[in-house]
Amino acid sequence: MIKLFQPHMPKSVDQPLLQVLHSGYITQGPKVDEFEQKFCDVFGHKNAVSINSGTSALTLALRLAGVGPGDEVITTPMTCTATNLPILSLGAKPVFADIDPISGLISTNSVSKLVTTKTKAIMAVDWSGSPVDVETLNAIAADNNLKVIVDAAHALGTNHNAEPDFTCYSLQAIKHITTVDGGVLICADDKDYHRAKVLRWFGIDRELPSLDSRIDQDIEEWGYKFHMNDVAATIGIEQLNHADYIIQAYRENAAYLHEMLDKSFYAMAPLTEGSYWIFTVLLPNSKLRRQFKEYMEDHDIMVSQVHKRNDEYAVFKPYKVSTYSEGELYYRDFPGVDNFSERMICLPVHWALTSEDRDKIVQTANAFAELQR
Ligand SMILES: Cc1ncc(COP(=O)(O)O)c(C=O)c1O
Repeated sequence: MIKLFQPHMPKSVDQPLLQVLHSGYITQGPKVDEFEQKFCDVFGHKNAVSINSGTSALTLALRLAGVGPGDEVITTPMTCTATNLPILSLGAKPVFADIDPISGLISTNSVSKLVTTKTKAIMAVDWSGSPVDVETLNAIAADNNLKVIVDAAHALGTNHNAEPDFTCYSLQAIKHITTVDGGVLICADDKDYHRAKVLRWFGIDRELPSLDSRIDQDIEEWGYKFHMNDVAATIGIEQLNHADYIIQAYRENAAYLHEMLDKSFYAMAPLTEGSYWIFTVLLPNSKLRRQFKEYMEDHDIMVSQVHKRNDEYAVFKPYKVSTYSEGELYYRDFPGVDNFSERMICLPVHWALTSEDRDKIVQTANAFAELQR
């Protein structure tokens, strides 16, 4: 079976991991600092706050953006639930925007129409690892005093056309590189960066000189227990040695699929310089999706939608409602989300595919297309 995802865990992790496991110090310590510095060096960020998951990084970003009870966050429904559940956890309201019907990226046009006096932040996702248009989102944010948060869980190594206030990465098991579970938060503003480091550990500043930080320091603002530990960081440090190669492999596989798949049958967004954690194609119609999945899996190739549009989960249904008028509910139209979510499916694109695997994926998918004619 050609798997949809393949965790990357080099053998060279073993020795440093054993060392740290038996070092007598396994929680947040020097390895976390080393990991953060290396992450900045590899990806060209000026700061990085390591976190225990991508979901926690998103929660922290929302908190730093000032999102609280009653606030609105404009967001995409076409994503992992991890993007939008943190909005609910802060007592805020997700306001779903439409997306581009082919790329799956949030529609900046739709975003601009949804800003109200309650809006605090815009949450955008680099679907499939392709970069969202941060420049336009920043302009909307600047006009309305909002913060821009990019969920870049699919997009390690992807560059944006401008810097958002917050960028959140996931290092969960099947992401480009992994610390088994983990995340990284990048803050554009130095003050946010320092506050993030305090809020990730109960609200205590571990960098202030004190004999015993938990005892000597007051907690002025409640924080989380979101920090990374030295075991995860040790895995991350070793993974970072392979990041360029891994991300390049995803990119090359995506370019190959993009070139070779039958474009008269599969709709695809233009190829970007993104890092393609998933590779999405749109089938001509929703009815073909189940058949396509069965056909590919009969040929030992895993395919999946990976994420379900969030507004279909019961927990998010109340936020589909646009207005109440004369006792009636009006549901917002999401033509882009409808088109994309009904037709899309993701093919294997991961670093471990061989050239034979890639050929088999293309030949099988193109044979399916031929059968439909
Ligand atoms: C778009 C998106 N956001 C957030 C996350 C959450 O990351 P984590 O599993 O590290 O919490 C994921 C994980 O798959 C994701 O795909």
